[in-house]
Amino acid sequence: MIADELFDLAPVIPVVVLDDADAAVPLARALLAGGLPAIEVTLRTPAALEAIALIAAEVPDAVVGAGTVVRPEDAERSAAAGARFLVSPGCTERLRAAMLATRLPFLPGVATASEAIALLEDGVTAMKFFPAGPAGGPAYLKALAGPLPRARFCPTGGVTPRNAAEYLALDNVGCVGGTWLTPRDAVRAGDFDRVRALAAEAAALRPA
Ligand code: 3PG
Repeated sequence: MIADELFDLAPVIPVVVLDDADAAVPLARALLAGGLPAIEVTLRTPAALEAIALIAAEVPDAVVGAGTVVRPEDAERSAAAGARFLVSPGCTERLRAAMLATRLPFLPGVATASEAIALLEDGVTAMKFFPAGPAGGPAYLKALAGPLPRARFCPTGGVTPRNAAEYLALDNVGCVGGTWLTPRDAVRAGDFDRVRALAAEAAALRPA
């Protein structure tokens, strides 16, 4: 899989913050059942790497990735745990080299035209746009499409069920990401039916 193919998996990549690795497998199954195979487990909790390993081993139809990759060593550890893609909120040369070294597809984060141009110069066309809402939202992304037609984005940060369709309607948006599909209270309570319902609504944003 190359990074641009991540955009074709589903209209939404759930961004997951997991407190307890035991929730990982039922959560991934619920998202998959709702129609969202790609899952970004953020490296923001101590449970993240174990959660990635469990999903990779027990839910093979899910495509589990690591998010919040901010240190070069995060890339290698995520790959070793079984991540199938990497997402970073921003990008430096060192971080990009570390993500490249894993040979996994990755979405490096950008928030400006210059950051996107730096990646395009190296042939990277698939990017995360972060933080999408505060950085300017759909209007900002639409403005980038003219001068940077080759760049395609996964906006995250402030994407909600209310504005996701507006982002997805843009030619330079491949998919969107967000945490709204996996509310922490629902995950803590083991309410995976709610997660599946939220995933199904999100999957319907772009018919398969
Ligand atoms: C991310 O890392 O992509 C964001 O934290 C997601 O932000 P959200 O909570 O606004 O969806």
